[in-house]
Amino acid sequence: MTDLFADHHAQALDAGDPLPTLRGEFHIPMHGDSTQAYFVGNSLGLQPRAAREYIEEVLDKWATEAVEGHFTQPAQWMTYHELVREPLARVVGAQPQEVVAMNSLTANLHLMMVSFYRPTRERPAILIEAGAFPSDRHAMESQIRFHGFDPATDLIELHPDEANGTFSMAAIERAIAEHGPRLALVLWPGVQYRSGQAFDIAEVARLAHAQGAVCGVDLAHAVGNLELALHDSNVDFAVWCHYKYLNAGPGAVAGCFVHERHAHTDRPRFAGWWGHDVSTRFLMGAEFVPTPGAEGWQLSNPPVLALAPLRASLDLFDSVGMPALRQKSLRLTGYLEALIAERLVDTLQVVTPRDPDRRGCQLSLRVVGGHERGRALFDYLAANGVLGDWREPDVIRISPAPLYNTHADVLRFARTVEAWRHAG
Ligand SMILES: Cc1ncc(COP(=O)(O)O)c(C=O)c1O
Repeated sequence: MTDLFADHHAQALDAGDPLPTLRGEFHIPMHGDSTQAYFVGNSLGLQPRAAREYIEEVLDKWATEAVEGHFTQPAQWMTYHELVREPLARVVGAQPQEVVAMNSLTANLHLMMVSFYRPTRERPAILIEAGAFPSDRHAMESQIRFHGFDPATDLIELHPDEANGTFSMAAIERAIAEHGPRLALVLWPGVQYRSGQAFDIAEVARLAHAQGAVCGVDLAHAVGNLELALHDSNVDFAVWCHYKYLNAGPGAVAGCFVHERHAHTDRPRFAGWWGHDVSTRFLMGAEFVPTPGAEGWQLSNPPVLALAPLRASLDLFDSVGMPALRQKSLRLTGYLEALIAERLVDTLQVVTPRDPDRRGCQLSLRVVGGHERGRALFDYLAANGVLGDWREPDVIRISPAPLYNTHADVLRFARTVEAWRHAG
């Protein structure tokens, strides 16, 4: 019988994997003389080695050309944001004019809500998941108040109906039907940050639209993790960040999607000069004429230095493509799940859905015994170079990222948990 815990087994899985690892393209943090087993791509992805080169290209251009850098090739700054548009569209399954890299996630969420959350007395409400990421909730609440409505009645939070704190599609369907006539907006995650549950966003959009509501999605934990088909999913807008699975660095410039059918919308928006029609932007006229598509929501000229590392990361995504990456992700996370099932069930309960179609790479693992035991295990893992992240009160999130994690990393996690258990 195959010994899942044998080194040679993990090595054979890595050697025989249909998608050779791109680990060599990243800086892997060290732990003593060896590398960490880094499972925190759900929080901050690792640095692509080429990021430095892209940043230095900008620094060199600035040093040698100063303002002329806006106009000279290669990679002129004036249109720098366009360099990431097509590769980004490929990662999220969108048309190029539907995506733009700008601002930060929460800022983009507000900009999108200015246009797509238009509450009326009859239809003032927003539906979100209970336990949503606090920034999303703050954004929703403040927008509701901004329009003179009351979050106590108009921010509807759907509570999980499944045992581990996850949601059935039936519960989402019931909530949208029940509140339908009052719903202005359904804002749903692609992957829920705490549980790791992935959602069928096309189905959420269909249900929301059937009730006359707008549908937006937060893809912070889904982009670069799941194979997305944003255009076909029909959501009205999406927002995400690039510092997690997109490996573009701390506080990286975020992403935004606006469906093609809104490319020429006359909905209100908060405008800035970089959203003005490209063909007449520099005539410096007084009247705002939005450029069609997602770029029409840009406010400012592109933050070139901050966009540079995203180019390095997108090169890697383009070199393999999301379908192959997702397949590798299924293999890595499947191996993690199998190792837990084989020997660690008395220590770790998997909170994330078992069905691979209902999750991305992350497994949220509740430590049996509660907070203190959980913290002790988490600290032991970190002290042994195995990095996950901690969610109160008792959950460790482990996210094998298929660009740089290996089966050997996954085995190291399981072995370290075992060693902790043996130790006491
Ligand atoms: C689901 C989700 N929403 C919103 C945010 C906030 O992102 P930002 O600080 O980039 O606005 C995060 C950050 O991790 C997140 O995970």
